[in-house]
Amino acid sequence: MPSLRTSTFTESVIREMTRVAREYGAINLSQGFPDFPMPAPMKEAACAAIRGDVNQYAVTWGAPALRLGIAEKYRRWYGMDVDPDREVTVTCGATEAMAAVFMALLDPGDEVIVLEPFYENYGPDAILADAKPVFVPLEEPDWRLDPDRLRAAFTPRTKAIIVNTPHNPTGRVLTRDEISLIAELCQEHDVWAITDEIYEHIRYAGNHHVIATWPGMAERTVTISGFSKTYSCTGWRLGYAIAPAELTTAIRKVHDFLTVGAPAPLQAGATVALAFDTPYYNELAYGYRERRDMLAAALTEAGFTFSLPEGAYYILASFSAISDLDDVAFAHWLASDIGVATVPGSSFYHKRGMGRGLVRFAYCKKKETIEAAAERLVGLRARV
Ligand SMILES: Cc1ncc(COP(=O)(O)O)c(C=O)c1O
Repeated sequence: MPSLRTSTFTESVIREMTRVAREYGAINLSQGFPDFPMPAPMKEAACAAIRGDVNQYAVTWGAPALRLGIAEKYRRWYGMDVDPDREVTVTCGATEAMAAVFMALLDPGDEVIVLEPFYENYGPDAILADAKPVFVPLEEPDWRLDPDRLRAAFTPRTKAIIVNTPHNPTGRVLTRDEISLIAELCQEHDVWAITDEIYEHIRYAGNHHVIATWPGMAERTVTISGFSKTYSCTGWRLGYAIAPAELTTAIRKVHDFLTVGAPAPLQAGATVALAFDTPYYNELAYGYRERRDMLAAALTEAGFTFSLPEGAYYILASFSAISDLDDVAFAHWLASDIGVATVPGSSFYHKRGMGRGLVRFAYCKKKETIEAAAERLVGLRARV
């Protein structure tokens, strides 16, 4: 029999919807991967590394040049002092970073606060570490954090809080006040902040606030980010965790036993990206803002309601003005009858029934793809 631990895991609904999209020939606005190419210099560097025989295990916690580039990035962008030798671990995506950090930091019974709706991996990550996720809602319709509810979630067993900004699936960018409140509560209750900043460069409003730079937070923060979204290379599986040296030693042990290391030639490709300049990041955000506006117009026209994303590349939309179906049935109908694949809202909540009137659209797609989806969504209400 498989372990009890895995018995509560269901197949990732997001990846399932990608399969459903294929089955119906639907335009895939479900999974968050770009359908356009990644930057050419990174591809060239990775190919050169393969040809140059960089094909054996990299240093377990990341190629030195890549760790140096990451430390330099944090100095330049956020004024953060990061020691590349003692505080950076390169992992197989932010996904592995999160799992490794959970296992390195949490003991059985520890509680981890997760803002809900949430990226679907955090719940299983907590279970893998025998920890208990405690959910605090971001309130509809504009997904604000209620300070009193957050405060009430901290208990003597709370060990960590996940801080995901820009936020998947809502598109919220947490404000300075929200980050300050989280920092204050972490210090008051002796709790770690584990961040997920994978969309840090995809923002249309607000600033990216790095909680590790708050007074008193560097020593109780693990900063997680990665290359998948910023450089459109979700298949490369490269991310990292920045943490104080003592915790980094523990994270590196878990990482070593889980994966030995991230792919060596792709680390060489990623190193090149860290030298990209401001125009690259501006273009990335402008490009996504245009796509957001295209999709938002089409969804409004079709009868969906939502709050406009401030960051990341998703719209979490309510379809309650269109249909009474539940989210799973509506998402299947949208894929099969209209030809647009989305993710049912309940996949971002811990209880069935929550997110019932919501679906998530991803717009990390070519403009042609979004235009084609918009055409299919025209007249949607007439076909319900
Ligand atoms: C919030 C968030 N974190 C992490 C990931 C996965 O990152 P990676 O590809 O680096 O594992 C995603 C992917 O969709 C995400 O939305």
